[in-house]
Amino acid sequence: MSWKLVRHKAVDSTNDEAKALIAEGAPPWTVIVAEKQVAGKGRHGRSWASPRGGLYLSVILPQEMDRLPLLSMAASLAVAEALDAWGLPVAVKWPNDVQVGGAKVAGILVEGLVRPEGYWAVVGIGINSDVAKERLPRRMDSPVTTLRHELGKAVDNEGLLSRLLAAFQANVDVLENASAIAQAYRGRCVTLGTDVVVETGKGTIQGKAVTIRESGTLVVRVPTGDEVEIADGTVRGPP
Ligand code: BTN
Repeated sequence: MSWKLVRHKAVDSTNDEAKALIAEGAPPWTVIVAEKQVAGKGRHGRSWASPRGGLYLSVILPQEMDRLPLLSMAASLAVAEALDAWGLPVAVKWPNDVQVGGAKVAGILVEGLVRPEGYWAVVGIGINSDVAKERLPRRMDSPVTTLRHELGKAVDNEGLLSRLLAAFQANVDVLENASAIAQAYRGRCVTLGTDVVVETGKGTIQGKAVTIRESGTLVVRVPTGDEVEIADGTVRGPP
């Protein structure tokens, strides 16, 4: 199946555009792309800086709600695979970051939508691509970077978009094989095997990150030896 691009110069958020298009009956693999967002959304109500030059897109797909974390893993992997073309040190960080050299270069925001005709997913992907690093807000807690900064040259967003969508489509084609997606994700994940502090909605969990399950949960071994499964949170790294 091929995708259909809906292009915008500027929107509030491509995820919100996608939700509006679902309500209007847009088919699967409709992809909303914007040159900039004026109200880009990150996870947990955070904002996503979206200056011109970055790549901001949202993919519309039918999907059961319990598969959304798997879809997020498939999207993170697709971003990493698309960036491999440059030979950069690319890794994923649970649950939704893509890093180059330990700094965040992309984020994924998957949102679910329940409609009378069924369940939908909006897979939002933001990549700090052809952007000067100075244009991004500095974050004390986690370093950020851009492809332009890492490569030291301009980035062809159109080529990146095509590679990304081809990689994402290939991953979604095999989504039924959840163990293969999870295995590939684990193989590129910087979080595993490290001592982590995870901020969750129910408090902070500290321990060693031991695995990521097919359901998308992170398993942390806490000092008592118990293993705690975390569905969502922010990993702050070693204390
Ligand atoms: C995060 O790291 O917190 C997730 C960031 C997701 C950003 C993308 S940009 C395209 C899509 N539209 C949005 O408003 N957000 C996502």
